Amino acid sequence: MATREIEPVVLDLNRLENLAESGYYNPYSMFDWPDTIEPGLPWMSESLTTLAGTEMWDELTREQQIALTKYEAINFFSLNIHGIRELLNEVVMRIHERTYADVSEFLHHFIGEENEHMWFFAQFCLRYGGRLYPAQPTLKADSVEHLSPVARELIVFARILIFEEIVDYYNAHMATDQSLPHIAREINRVHHQDESRHVAFGRMIFTNLLAQVSRRDPDEVPAVAEYLENYLQYSIATLYNPAAYRDADIPDALALRRRALEHPARAEAHEQVLKRTRKFLSKAGVGRELIK
Ligand SMILES: [Fe+2]
Ligand SMILES: [Fe+2]
Repeated sequence: MATREIEPVVLDLNRLENLAESGYYNPYSMFDWPDTIEPGLPWMSESLTTLAGTEMWDELTREQQIALTKYEAINFFSLNIHGIRELLNEVVMRIHERTYADVSEFLHHFIGEENEHMWFFAQFCLRYGGRLYPAQPTLKADSVEHLSPVARELIVFARILIFEEIVDYYNAHMATDQSLPHIAREINRVHHQDESRHVAFGRMIFTNLLAQVSRRDPDEVPAVAEYLENYLQYSIATLYNPAAYRDADIPDALALRRRALEHPARAEAHEQVLKRTRKFLSKAGVGRELIK
């Protein structure tokens, strides 16, 4: 990691650190894990499944619909687990770098909280779903090799931010969805609470590193915008897991995935999920409108 060329990242994180301390909870005693989940309830909001709004959803039996909410909840939590492992790796590597000395205190909270998130997501998947879905192939790391060290550093934190913002869209919705089993709602609610601090931090560090990239070489900004747009689309596509369709007993999983991803109702749903993040990126000067 060539962080020597990067200026120290100095951010005012007092408020976020105080909130992390005052909101500290014990995840291991926090949840009341039922032995089983009441049958017939959706595990994920029906409106958030990957077939919502399409005729493909209407063509399913009620049994398949409920099974799809169940396996897409397991997929969503599995994506969380893999995403957290990836981001923890990156943050742990940086915590004592000179560049991040000023934000190191917050990063300690961040690492601790993410470890706990990874634990409760896995608990849910293993207790009730009996499995985690394996990690899907990540967007190729070599696609950033042509960028400067500071731009690559920006991309590391941008990936974390984008991942957290997308997840938070789902968490925030499911935190209050009364149709879900209590334990599913609780996990979404608790995660949403911690993530609001992480997203606030993520936006601050992103802004700092983007300013460094723009000062050093403004010509690099469109390349960063292009990478981020690809990452947004890649992240959305990981929600469409053929294994979840198969487990829900829906035939032709791969063809279904293709059809669903291209469906206009789904394109509209993706716009909704990504709206807040795209607005932030555009305002920061690195939106998709820069891509030629
Ligand atoms: Fe998290
Ligand atoms: Fe987080």
